[in-house]
Amino acid sequence: SKMQPALALWLPLLPLLLVLPGQTQLVKNVPGSVDENGLCHCVVHLPNNLAPLKQLEQLQAITQELMHKYEQELSRVILEMNLEAPTYSLLRLELEGARELVTQLTAKGGGSVAEDLLSQLQSQVANASLSLKLLADSDQRNLRAYRQEVDVLESRLIDCERERWQEASGPPLPPGSCAHGGLQRVSRPLVVQLNWRGFSHKAGAWGRDSTPNPDSSLYWVAPLSSGDRYFDYYRLYKSYDDLVLMKNYVERSMGYGDGSGNTVYENFMYFNYYGTRDIAKVNLSSNTLLLRRPLPSATYNNRFSYAGVSWKDIDFAGDEKGLWVLYATEESKGNLVVSRLNTSTLEVEKTWRTSQYKPAMSGAFMACGVLYALRPLSTRQEEIFYAFDTTTGRERHLSILLDKMLETLHGINYSPSDHKLYVYNDGYLINYDLSFLTLKHKQSKPPAGKFSWLPTVPHPVTPKKTSRP
Ligand SMILES: *[C@@H]1O[C@H](CO)[C@@H](O)[C@H](O)[C@H]1NC(C)=O
Ligand SMILES: *[C@@H]1O[C@H](CO)[C@@H](O)[C@H](O)[C@H]1NC(C)=O
Ligand SMILES: *[C@@H]1O[C@H](CO)[C@@H](O)[C@H](O)[C@H]1NC(C)=O
Repeated sequence: SKMQPALALWLPLLPLLLVLPGQTQLVKNVPGSVDENGLCHCVVHLPNNLAPLKQLEQLQAITQELMHKYEQELSRVILEMNLEAPTYSLLRLELEGARELVTQLTAKGGGSVAEDLLSQLQSQVANASLSLKLLADSDQRNLRAYRQEVDVLESRLIDCERERWQEASGPPLPPGSCAHGGLQRVSRPLVVQLNWRGFSHKAGAWGRDSTPNPDSSLYWVAPLSSGDRYFDYYRLYKSYDDLVLMKNYVERSMGYGDGSGNTVYENFMYFNYYGTRDIAKVNLSSNTLLLRRPLPSATYNNRFSYAGVSWKDIDFAGDEKGLWVLYATEESKGNLVVSRLNTSTLEVEKTWRTSQYKPAMSGAFMACGVLYALRPLSTRQEEIFYAFDTTTGRERHLSILLDKMLETLHGINYSPSDHKLYVYNDGYLINYDLSFLTLKHKQSKPPAGKFSWLPTVPHPVTPKKTSRP
């Protein structure tokens, strides 16, 4: 019989065998392939009657769209407002049913089931769409009133907390400044949003370019692919507002990173090359690999990753003092070692050994040349329990508590520009304000008043130039 031209059709599953309603012959496909964007393509040879398959295609598109809307809505509602809305649960059930049907349809190997599956799917999607409309009309009115109330309360709470935070922390530090006596406190987490790839991408990282330059406001988000290992996609935003609104972004495909230890420093992305001890550098302006070289003695392939976070053997960290890499070696018996890197060659400039077993930590970051290590206390709290100062080679134990929304902190990245910690928390992008001890707490200094900034000084005091080596 006459075949239609091949039709490229996106489907979540590769092998596709369909029996079309009203047709008795089996329709076969040829093996599918995955393109550079990670989409599956199958070529399907069709009999003349295209209508049912087109319908299926449309249904799939609708289901995808609804799933996406539902995920974004539900996550916001549940996380921010702790609200239990029955309509949302219903919608979820309906969409889950629809997804199940799509899976059955696409996986079906034969028989004459397609027709009734298809009509079930239609009904299911129609129901889901109705629920969504209900939410948008009637229920939304109550929801909106409730939401406004909560918003007012919430913003008052935030103002209040910010005031208290600033009172307790003293004047804010200038961007990139290390004129402090070390980490003092961590604020409550701010939930920014669910990552753009959805709930299932629990592992990943995000942050702000850690160049100590307040003018650079490049934000990046890199959810790992499902399976929590492969670093393949990232998005770049030129401002925080763009990130919050999820607009004006550049989305890139990489396809060769391992784990969530990557970071962005001076507009370059640094990461562990997949399945090797190699460290690599990507030019973010062009998405090209500039450099790749082994990190001497570093263990890799999940040998000494962090507690609860797999494949993060090699963890990059940027701060006021440069670019660092945190890892473990066989010689260190799994204890964390810190190396400072030359960013133009990726050569190790200097290495420090800590006394702490890396797999016992849940993560670590650098600020002003000091390593801070975390460990989990419970499903809702972490503790910064250990610090190692690369300037003095001294270590100390401390206890700074950190609340978290969900259990596992994946990427943890510090930005010197705003002294914030950017954390990827089981798929959610959250951040924390860090406050540091003022120097007078640490060493005796003349009263602060004598050194405060005077707005009327005609010539600002410029710091003394240190002689270059
Ligand atoms: C859709 O909703 C109708 C009316 O509530 C219900 O009878 C029907 O079973 C639902 N269909 C599916 C597939 O859930
Ligand atoms: C990065 O890419 C941009 C755009 O292609 C280019 O202008 C720049 O020179 C590159 N930087 C390096 C260090 O290769
Ligand atoms: C990095 O290495 C290059 C080549 O060895 C050297 O010229 C440069 O000065 C180094 N950069 C720093 C900051 O030490």
